[in-house]
Amino acid sequence: MAVNNVVLCACVFLAFFAVCDAYGTGAPDTACVTMHPGHMFNATAAVVPQTSASPYSIVVEGDKYTPGSTFSVQIVGPVFRGFLLQARRPGSTTPVGTFSNAPADTQTTECTTADSSMTHASPGQKQNITLTWNAPSTGVGNVQFVATVAEMKVKYWMDVTSAQVAQGTTSGASFAKPTFYLIMALCLLQAALFLK
Ligand SMILES: *[C@@H]1O[C@H](CO)[C@@H](O)[C@H](O)[C@H]1NC(C)=O
Ligand SMILES: *[C@@H]1O[C@H](CO)[C@@H](O)[C@H](O)[C@H]1NC(C)=O
Repeated sequence: MAVNNVVLCACVFLAFFAVCDAYGTGAPDTACVTMHPGHMFNATAAVVPQTSASPYSIVVEGDKYTPGSTFSVQIVGPVFRGFLLQARRPGSTTPVGTFSNAPADTQTTECTTADSSMTHASPGQKQNITLTWNAPSTGVGNVQFVATVAEMKVKYWMDVTSAQVAQGTTSGASFAKPTFYLIMALCLLQAALFLK
C-alpha cells in the first residue's frame, strides 16, 4: 500500500473516532433541561438541530399509566446512535418517574433524580428500542415522553414527543375516597335513624 493510502486511511479512521467521540457515552448533565446535545462541528461552531419533521416517533404502550407500575415506551424510526429521553408533565422541564431494564447500549442517567432519564451508553447503532418507565407511585397527572434523537453527531432532532398519557387508577386508589365517604355517610344516616 502506498504511503499516501496509509496516511489517508489513518486520517479517515481518526476523523471517524473524533466524530463519534463527543458524548459517545451518554448525554452530558447540561442537557437535562434543554435536552440539547451540545455537539460541536469544531471549536467554534455548534451543530444545530434538524428543522425537518422528525423521522423518529415515540410510541407509548397505551393512553393511561398506572401509578407505581411499569409502562413501555418505544423510539421508532431509522437507526440512530444517541438519545436522551424523559417523562415530563406537559409544559414542565422536570422529569418524573424513573427508568429501569435498560436495553443493550443504553443506560439510565440522573437528571434531578437518579434514573429519571434514559440515554445511550455508546454510539453503537440502535433501532426501535423499548424503554421501561416506572410511573411514580403517587400519580402526577398527564405525562408525555420527550426525546432528543441523534441519527449521528451532526444530525439530530429535538422535541420528539409522544402522545400525552393520562394517569390511570390503581385498583386500590379507584375505590378510595368517594366510596369511603359514601359508606361513612350511609352509616351515619343509619345511626341517626336508629337513635331517633
Ligand atoms: C467550523 O465549522 C463550521 C460549520 O461547518 C464552518 O462554517 C467553519 O468554517 C468552521 N470553522 C473552523 C475554524 O474550522
Ligand atoms: C422499526 O420499526 C419500523 C416502523 O414500525 C419498521 O418499519 C422497521 O422494520 C423496524 N425495524 C426493526 C429493525 O425492527
